[in-house]
Amino acid sequence: MSKHDEMKRIRDELIALSSSPLYRYRTENRYFPVVGEGSHDAHIMFVGEAPGENEAKTARPFCGRSGKMLDELLASIGLDRASVYITNLVKDRPPENRDPSPEEIALYAPFLDRQIEIMQPRIIAVLGRHSMKYVFEHYGVASALAPISKIHGTVYTGQARYGPVTIVALYHPAVALYNGSMRPVLINDFQVLKKYV
Ligand code: URA
Repeated sequence: MSKHDEMKRIRDELIALSSSPLYRYRTENRYFPVVGEGSHDAHIMFVGEAPGENEAKTARPFCGRSGKMLDELLASIGLDRASVYITNLVKDRPPENRDPSPEEIALYAPFLDRQIEIMQPRIIAVLGRHSMKYVFEHYGVASALAPISKIHGTVYTGQARYGPVTIVALYHPAVALYNGSMRPVLINDFQVLKKYV
């Protein structure tokens, strides 16, 4: 099966995921699951937390205000959305953007694992606490887990089934929206991705 067909299968399974605790909220609000966006051949995969309202309405990851910030950060290292792949740990919007529950993470994370196996990115950049915890614990760098304020922008070598993978934890782009003084910190952290372009 081609990469494209495998990713399409994931999309179809997510659409049909009536066992999810978020399924009813999705259908009642006419939301969509957000599978991911970008190139399936990208070397860099960004993993956010979960879709917000704009994302669930459009089926596109990071398309609201934090998405605009992410676009700016990508542009600062000469990238755009088409040259990377952007997805989330949880693929449906949790009500009122609450944190995903452990059950929701357990249900949706295998879809992320499949996306990683299909795309085999060289670098996984995690945006947010839950995606950081999941990816660090499941890709061989659990011992490096620490608050994001301590390890942002640090590069680790993790282990995927297909081989070594570089893992970097970045501040969630929304941080720069709440606190403008963090903007240069995020811009500086993004520089580490440059050599993987
Ligand atoms: N925040 C996320 O973590 N993911 C999105 O898709 C949008 C906002």
